[in-house]
Amino acid sequence: MGDAEGMNTSESTSQSELYRRRSLEEYSTEAAVQKYVNASAGAGIAYLLQHVYGPLYEEQLDKVINQKKGKEGLRILEYGCGGGMNLIWIVKRLLDRQINIDFACGTDFSAKMVQAANREASYTLPNAMRSKVFFYTVANEDLGRDLPTFLGRRLGDLRDAFHLVLGVNTFRFCFRLGTQAESANGIFSLVRPGGYSVLIDMNRYYPFFRSRLGSALTHPEDQPYLPSLDEYATVFRDAGFDIEMSGNFCWVPHSAGPAEVAILRAASPVLQRLFSRFAMRSLVVARKPW
Ligand SMILES: C[S@@+](CC[C@H](N)C(=O)[O-])C[C@H]1O[C@@H](n2cnc3c(N)ncnc32)[C@H](O)[C@@H]1O
Repeated sequence: MGDAEGMNTSESTSQSELYRRRSLEEYSTEAAVQKYVNASAGAGIAYLLQHVYGPLYEEQLDKVINQKKGKEGLRILEYGCGGGMNLIWIVKRLLDRQINIDFACGTDFSAKMVQAANREASYTLPNAMRSKVFFYTVANEDLGRDLPTFLGRRLGDLRDAFHLVLGVNTFRFCFRLGTQAESANGIFSLVRPGGYSVLIDMNRYYPFFRSRLGSALTHPEDQPYLPSLDEYATVFRDAGFDIEMSGNFCWVPHSAGPAEVAILRAASPVLQRLFSRFAMRSLVVARKPW
């Protein structure tokens, strides 16, 4: 990874520890929480969940539903879940479709985000679901080790347990901390054979993520690292997954207002056809082999 080049191990460890502390502080503020809960996140994410991300999650879930024998309920995990918008959307959709859920779990290293997600779930999901949807403070890099403890299960019970594991705009932090391999390995251990991992994150080549373009050119070392699509896919392949789909997509920012959504939604098919490499997000859909 570019950031750590030329540093010795203890320098790069203290750099990533510093980065971890800063990110945790950033995602523990009320302002950050407001960006990642439904009521205040923006029309963009509502549109994306309904029309772009949501259908993608359902496509993977439909594949596992078709493999399932008997009435076994679905198990879903969202890591780096913020206020839980993706997970709560999925749970509601499965409820609408009357599909049995065993449990759905969200994790984030920010206790504030986890609190907000639990609050959102209690406001928006029917009471009967409250014993099946929970959020815990667990870091992406500790999933394989710590999640079973939180869920009160033995490690072996959660290995190969989840039908779908997703992470939206969070895996880039694993690269910045240098924990991408252990995070992907942890995720691999939790997904059941035939189950899916969906990763959605910033695309390194979307021109406007480099907000201070001048400074990106003059001080590239100040820019937080953004992995390439290939780096995202490689780390999941190395963990043992088969990559079923990888590409760049999505032209609507999560925080877009209604007018911006209307314009970008109309322009998306053309932008995607002509400039897909420069779309906003990287997508990796990976399947755990049988
Ligand atoms: C950009 S937000 C995305 C939140 C949510 N996935 C969404 O799309 O609404 C990034 C989230 O990743 C979390 N995060 C960053 N690094 C993490 C880590 N190492 N372990 C767990 N969560 C992390 C942050 O606390 C934050 O909630």
